[in-house]
Amino acid sequence: MNCFLSISAGKTHIMDPKNKMIKKRKLETGIKVIKIGNKTISLEGYLTKKTKTESNEPLPNPVGASAQDSQTGQTTLSVNLNPKEQQNVAENSKTRAFPGDPAYLKTRQGLPLWTRQDEIRGILQQDDVLVLVGETGSGKSTQVPQFLYQEQWCQRKKVRIEKDGWTEEVNVGGMIAITQPRRVAATTLAHRVSREAGTPLNGERGVSSNRKNATSRGLVGYSVRFDHRVPPGTKIKYMTEGMLLQELLRDPHLRQYSAIIVDEIHERSVDVDLLSGFLKQIVTRDKAGRAGIPLKVVIMSATANVESIKQFFSGATPDEPFDSSTVKEDPTSSPVRLLQIEGRQFPVDVVHTLKPVPDIQETLLKTIFKIHTEEPLQDKHGRADILAFLTGQEEIEAAQRLIEEYAATLAANVPKIKVFPLFGQLSMEAQHEAFQPIKGGFTRKIVLATNIAETSVTVPGVRYVVDCGKAKVKQFRPRLGMESLLAKPISKSSAIQRAGRAGREGPGKCFRLYTEETYGTLEKTDLPEILRTDVLGAVLTMKARGIDDVMSFPLMDPPDVESVEKALLHLHLLGAIDDEGGITETGRKMVRFPVTAPYARVLLAAADPKFECLAEAIDIISIITAGEDIFLQIQTEETKEEVEIYRKELYRREGDLLTYLNTMQLYVSENADRVQWCKTRKINTRNMKQALNIRKQLRGLCVKQGLMEQPPPDPQPFSPISPERAATILQCFLKGFALKTAMLAPDSSYVTTHGKHVVAIHPASVLHGQKKEAIMFLEHVYTQKNYAKKVSAIQAAWITDALEN
Ligand SMILES: Nc1ncnc2c1ncn2[C@@H]1O[C@H](COP(=O)(O)OP(=O)(O)OP(=O)(O)O)[C@@H](O)[C@H]1O
Ligand SMILES: [Mg+2]
Repeated sequence: MNCFLSISAGKTHIMDPKNKMIKKRKLETGIKVIKIGNKTISLEGYLTKKTKTESNEPLPNPVGASAQDSQTGQTTLSVNLNPKEQQNVAENSKTRAFPGDPAYLKTRQGLPLWTRQDEIRGILQQDDVLVLVGETGSGKSTQVPQFLYQEQWCQRKKVRIEKDGWTEEVNVGGMIAITQPRRVAATTLAHRVSREAGTPLNGERGVSSNRKNATSRGLVGYSVRFDHRVPPGTKIKYMTEGMLLQELLRDPHLRQYSAIIVDEIHERSVDVDLLSGFLKQIVTRDKAGRAGIPLKVVIMSATANVESIKQFFSGATPDEPFDSSTVKEDPTSSPVRLLQIEGRQFPVDVVHTLKPVPDIQETLLKTIFKIHTEEPLQDKHGRADILAFLTGQEEIEAAQRLIEEYAATLAANVPKIKVFPLFGQLSMEAQHEAFQPIKGGFTRKIVLATNIAETSVTVPGVRYVVDCGKAKVKQFRPRLGMESLLAKPISKSSAIQRAGRAGREGPGKCFRLYTEETYGTLEKTDLPEILRTDVLGAVLTMKARGIDDVMSFPLMDPPDVESVEKALLHLHLLGAIDDEGGITETGRKMVRFPVTAPYARVLLAAADPKFECLAEAIDIISIITAGEDIFLQIQTEETKEEVEIYRKELYRREGDLLTYLNTMQLYVSENADRVQWCKTRKINTRNMKQALNIRKQLRGLCVKQGLMEQPPPDPQPFSPISPERAATILQCFLKGFALKTAMLAPDSSYVTTHGKHVVAIHPASVLHGQKKEAIMFLEHVYTQKNYAKKVSAIQAAWITDALEN
């Protein structure tokens, strides 16, 4: 059953309800019109203006409260520009030249946002906060920063700031940050926009790498955890929300920036909620810290709950939680402007199943092969690849195996298939492979992704989306101190985002593996992450930014008191806050590490003379932070036996952490062929490389903070860790993870010390099936069972020791 996701406002394609393509026609009079059913709509007014664009000038949009898009007949909500703004808009159009690579100009001009750029500029010349809602693929993430960076208010200014009786000369502004919920979106967008802008993106990679190739200037950069490319001269910086929060700790007024664009706000990660609170404080407070220079804030999304965001930023009192009674009702008196832009470049045809599907995996495979065998490999718009949304890594890997097996049996005249997995735990390098154009003309790319490919990204080539309708959602229960990760139905907002990925390079199709009725029952949006996950990191960030009363920090959806109390207690236990609830020196040091609070605590403890095992702690944490388990799953018994012979020298009876350490130390002592070394042991080569990169950066940070001396260069000869040293390392990890421990019960099950739950050691652990007096586990997840992951054998007495001291 076909229905429409949207009506295209593209230049030539408009779909009628019966799915017929309607083209612009010329009447005898020479005036262009379109026909929708019996209705004929003249495009005269529109096209008269369009003659201006022949010289590549932007198209000043009809200004008014509701402009009717003459091609679609759809109403576009927009704000009124006052006379001054109109004058600015007109002047800008006359004078602006378009920088950037001309090869991309035509595509950019086809984006619905292109014609609204002067309106966007006009609004921000007058006001500081803009909520911009535009359909998926309308050009928000790639175009808006390019529209703004040349604005007068976006230039860096040298100013004097009074502070404690002193006058300080500082620079304010000059850059635009665009935040993304995920690393892959930030990096791929930066690549795309640097190409559009025609400037290189070859700055520094990683904080401690040498700066040799950071010499060419570039307009666009990115900064994500453990990977930074910010060429000199960068004006547009794509970054994760977490990175901007880190910068906020160092630069509370965000003086580097003239504007912050918060993209994909609807994802409502904890980080974006925190960021919104800090931004609200900056825009609503007196701007003395920026010498009176405002920070412009643009909030963007395709599916956001516009009113609540608008109200949040309009709230008059900066330090109080949002209270709707304080919001001025009169929209014109609000400093928050709203611009809703409808239309996307290409239409997406959405197909639902007629009946609920009993077996999602089977239907997914059937749908993929139906598309593959029946739909053309390419058309005039380019390639026609497939992007399928699955719930998680295991499901993706299983589907990949089945697809590859089946593809091998296809006839020679059917195109070949190349499958690319895409999930958050994959190394960045592997994630980026899915974004590369496929080599070989007679091959179709099939990307199997989790919801990391759901918002913001464009996977080149994709024209078909298969949506299983589910996603794994993390849910934290503060009372139990437990987290579950279960597949749940997605929201309507997610479904729209997923479908949107099909129409980015040409008209697309989205096959939903659920009925239209099921779609109707989906929640409108997802529950904000802050209401369902551990708020430990969020509370620490607030404390580090000097927020004493965290409950009064402005949040769009404040978490319940119980979750905050749990987080405060946990932070107290970690030594990050004192008895009065103020942040301690330890807490301040912890937030400087780009790892979660418990890992940061371990690093600090490891630098303490009592433990003195910082190099080892870094090795272990690097492997854990690099992504999915470094030990690849072995499918057949035969290979298993073979690989286990090699793996034996890596395994340690103390458990997974010491096994990781052993592996890292053996890996770096390997002087010959590290790739081959990984292959024979079935170790994920990419993740080991990534771990090495993280290790280098964490070492650099620790050296900088005076926690360790410059370590000797690799390769160093391998010498196994003694059992005594292993015990010290595990006791050090307990400083961060004392609450993640369990004792062996008389019935041979493990019962957690905090919460008293039964947990089982995960099959991937080297301690699986073993009985130890007590265990420490760094991760804990409820899937089919209550599993402890990354497990180590410990002594019960160590737990009391860690809790008491
Ligand atoms: N990496 C890329 N490769 C090819 N085309 C791209 C790429 N990135 C963007 N585009 C093109 O630019 C268009 C606009 O992309 P952009 O990311 O700005 O849209 P958006 O409005 O932010 O969408 P969304 O709400 O889905 O994030 C895409 O539809 C696509 O045509
Ligand atoms: Mg986007």
